[in-house]
Amino acid sequence: MNQRQAPLFGALKRYLARGHAGFHFPGHGGGRGLPRNLVDDLVRLDLTELPGLDDLHAPAGPIARAQELAAALYGADRTFFLVNGSTAGIQALLLAATAPGDKVLLPRNIHRSVIGGLILSGADPVYVTPSFSPDFGIYLPPRPADVRAALRAHRDLAAVLWTHPDYHGLATLTPEVATALREAGLPLLVDEAHGAHLPFHPAMPAPALALGAAAAVQSAHKLGGALTQGSWLHLRGPALAPQRVARALALLQTASPSYLLLASLDLARRQLALSGPRLVGRAVELAGRLRRGLAALEGVAVLEAGAGQADPTKVVASTRGLGLSGYRAATLLRREYGVQVELAGFGHLLFVVGLGTRAPDVARALRAFRSLVRKYGRPSCRSDLRPPAPDFYFPPPAEKVLTPRESWLTPARAVALEAAAGLVAAETVNLCPPGIPIVFPGEKLTPEVLQYILEIKARGFTVQATDPGLASIMVHCE
Ligand SMILES: Cc1ncc(COP(=O)(O)O)c(C=O)c1O
Repeated sequence: MNQRQAPLFGALKRYLARGHAGFHFPGHGGGRGLPRNLVDDLVRLDLTELPGLDDLHAPAGPIARAQELAAALYGADRTFFLVNGSTAGIQALLLAATAPGDKVLLPRNIHRSVIGGLILSGADPVYVTPSFSPDFGIYLPPRPADVRAALRAHRDLAAVLWTHPDYHGLATLTPEVATALREAGLPLLVDEAHGAHLPFHPAMPAPALALGAAAAVQSAHKLGGALTQGSWLHLRGPALAPQRVARALALLQTASPSYLLLASLDLARRQLALSGPRLVGRAVELAGRLRRGLAALEGVAVLEAGAGQADPTKVVASTRGLGLSGYRAATLLRREYGVQVELAGFGHLLFVVGLGTRAPDVARALRAFRSLVRKYGRPSCRSDLRPPAPDFYFPPPAEKVLTPRESWLTPARAVALEAAAGLVAAETVNLCPPGIPIVFPGEKLTPEVLQYILEIKARGFTVQATDPGLASIMVHCE
């Protein structure tokens, strides 16, 4: 063990030295989208609760004022700064709004942080299955009819936790769905991790608070110009008591919140308030350039949606027509052209155009893609695609035997993946990104789910699981 080494720092420096054009989170693009004052003072701002600097867990001074300004900007009654990402905010909302055994309505393509919230709160999930696009291999928003049917079938729901917009930028809280949820009279909690920038451009999906949400959690670090882990939680209306949310946050967040993150939230809010429409407008314009350039290439299809139906700064391109899997295309873009996308799927890529993206990044991505099409977009390369049957993308929901909390508290053991069919999963297995679970704790492992896992394994996707190699999986003893 050579203590002179700093392996992580070294890997970061080497990554930076390669000079990628980045289309991924955090959206500030290597600091270019960060407020200038923050960049100038970055290291010196790493302070703690010194006299005059307030206390995140009992704010009465500058933190309280900074939060009030953020609340005013987003039309909230109360805003809490978060230093453990939206993850902490989502989990605090579930803890504040539900008791063990309470039923919560959720879209099936929730982020894994929601499973953590279900374990902590003991709430019992009821899922609405979203629809699916076989062309792009992505989830589409749940159909309003399915939402209404779920509301009719479960009259005893205690709350709704919705994801809006979804990872690919699609508006899932459409006015129709929002009306159905509002009419049900339930507290509407929204994971708006991908929506800190929504209020600042007219083409964006409507923000959750404007659609009647009682709470919305936003990762300001994704698309709002804050440092990674900087998020905020907004409350509006009487459905949730702020004190209860504050208590839950005190339970979940560190006792030593980073003032760098808190300052970045304060400055990101000011930057959005003063220049949001211009900065987000530029990202929309650059994303439009990227979208049009990609769509003009033979064999590349780009997801199109009307104004308000999708976040225009997210560009989803299908690589199927090139005979390349999204994963292979992303690897080639990175290795041969220095272009890093946010996410690659079986048959698509997701580019995120953030506040820090610049015109030369878009030009480089387009040059790279053109060359990719010329070099690899040929039938001889098509063996790489091996598309799985469309429903592999979306293993059907399995039988729920235990709630996530019951599963957490029940003994578990590892079994070989091949021997797991019919057993009850004791862990969450996520594809990362997007961090959406493939395996849900407490649900029976079906042959479809296991087949899906084998596909993922064969293609070398990154997964988060107890055994990241996926030779085994945690199950409950019979
Ligand atoms: C839909 C969604 N919700 C929640 C989160 C968690 O947010 P954070 O990384 O800020 O904790 C993510 C992160 O990727 C996400 O994509």
